[in-house]
Amino acid sequence: MIRSLVVVGALLLGVSTVVAQQDVAKQSQATMKENAKNLGGVLIAMVKGEKPYDQAAVNAALKQLDDTAKKLPSMFPESVKNVKLEGDYSSSPKIWEDKAGFAAKIDSFAKVVSEAKTKIKDLDSLKATAPGIGKECSNCHETFRLKSS
Ligand code: HEC
Repeated sequence: MIRSLVVVGALLLGVSTVVAQQDVAKQSQATMKENAKNLGGVLIAMVKGEKPYDQAAVNAALKQLDDTAKKLPSMFPESVKNVKLEGDYSSSPKIWEDKAGFAAKIDSFAKVVSEAKTKIKDLDSLKATAPGIGKECSNCHETFRLKSS
């Protein structure tokens, strides 16, 4: 009896660890979706003239991207390596195989976002700066994100 309780306890523990890993991975995915909303739905939309220039909205979008840059170093712990999520993308094993390379992409993204915060003052400076942020996203995705098939 005690033995089977221990076994059940151990199984439950295993289940809750998997759930926690799923949560961590889901949060990363949610953060990434938020990035896309702020870059595409706010900054690039203004560049294209789909939305009027709005400094407060620009600042809010840049703040979220900046928060992402700060979160990225801890967003993909070893424990989420094998977590498979629903969606079109997953993390590449290269995140853990090439930690220095991944850290370099994060640094580069962080630098471009923090420069953007001081540079973007009007539509012209937004037009000059926003594509560079998008390039940083693709630069990381190219190597460290996988398209699910
Ligand atoms: C340092 C690396 C890195 C940077 C920088 C980065 N991403 Fe990602 N992104 C990833 C990884 C890894 C995944 C796949 C795992 C995941 O979704 O959490 C991903 C997934 C995504 C996804 C797919 C989410 C889904 O639905 O599954 C979107 C959209 C996205 N990123 C947008 C962006 C945008 C926009 C930026 C720039 C503003 C950005 N990312 C910057 C690494 C990065």
